Amino acid sequence: MTGSAGQVGGELLLELEKKFSSNDIVVSDINGLDKISDDYEKIILDVRNYDLLKQIIKEKDIKYIFHLASILSAKGEENPKLAFDVNMNGTHNVLAASAELGVDKVFIPSTIGVFGPEAQKDNTPILNSSRPRTMYGISKFTAEYLMQYYFERSHLDVRGIRYPGLLSYKTPPTAGTTDYAVDMIIHAARGMDYTCYLKEDAVLPMMYMPDAMENTMRLFDAPLKNLRYRGEYNISAFSFSPGELAEAIREFVPAFKVKYKPDSRQKIAESWPRSLDCSDGVKDWGFKARFTIREMIRDMISNLQK
Ligand code: SER
Repeated sequence: MTGSAGQVGGELLLELEKKFSSNDIVVSDINGLDKISDDYEKIILDVRNYDLLKQIIKEKDIKYIFHLASILSAKGEENPKLAFDVNMNGTHNVLAASAELGVDKVFIPSTIGVFGPEAQKDNTPILNSSRPRTMYGISKFTAEYLMQYYFERSHLDVRGIRYPGLLSYKTPPTAGTTDYAVDMIIHAARGMDYTCYLKEDAVLPMMYMPDAMENTMRLFDAPLKNLRYRGEYNISAFSFSPGELAEAIREFVPAFKVKYKPDSRQKIAESWPRSLDCSDGVKDWGFKARFTIREMIRDMISNLQK
């Protein structure tokens, strides 16, 4: 697993534990590995380092790669060169090395950020006009093409999901545009007011982390012959705006107050769809989400208060 210390890594490890022994899992990241349990073998890896990546795959006899290392939308706009390098060259390194060394299966997440402002706003299908405007979206959209390329050229079994905003109480998000949702719930659980950097009515597709992880493994385990797409599967459990989330939180924390001070992330949010058509994932590999917004908030608040 690359990018193991990020928002998805820790949660995906819990899911992988259901299928593999921790002795069989190698976790890597450029930093933050000290936060991860010593049950796993840990290796410091910058995914831009092709030679080290190949050496690890060979020496550890890696069969599957979960390539999570990525610079998300907001941080990517602060440092586009870094985002291009990590997201584009890092991903290409993983694909090229996997194809060359015969890795059995590769999972690479994509994002709602692949869509641009011209795309349909509601119930957006997979193949819609995608002219992403963030470096994150541009690099992930191109990564989807690279996945198709290595699938056709080298028969590499590579799969991916376009994650919506992911909410978790366990691992903090890493500088995306959808992070406000996690932050808002954390503030509410601590009895604090919250100032939101998006407008009250900025609707985005979202999902609770346990659902995202279960569906990641559902896609990972699906028969290859059923998959009509490589990295492009849309998934989302629900959509909400900051105002709607705040209102839903008030059922559990009635005194919760939110102020709105939109910053540059509002423009990113406006360039993304409000909701996604997820029917291709349902058809091809059985996508389904368990948690409603209400169940997610209840679960997050009760765990955060513990
Ligand atoms: N959560 C991501 C972001 O906000 C979108 O995939 O950048």
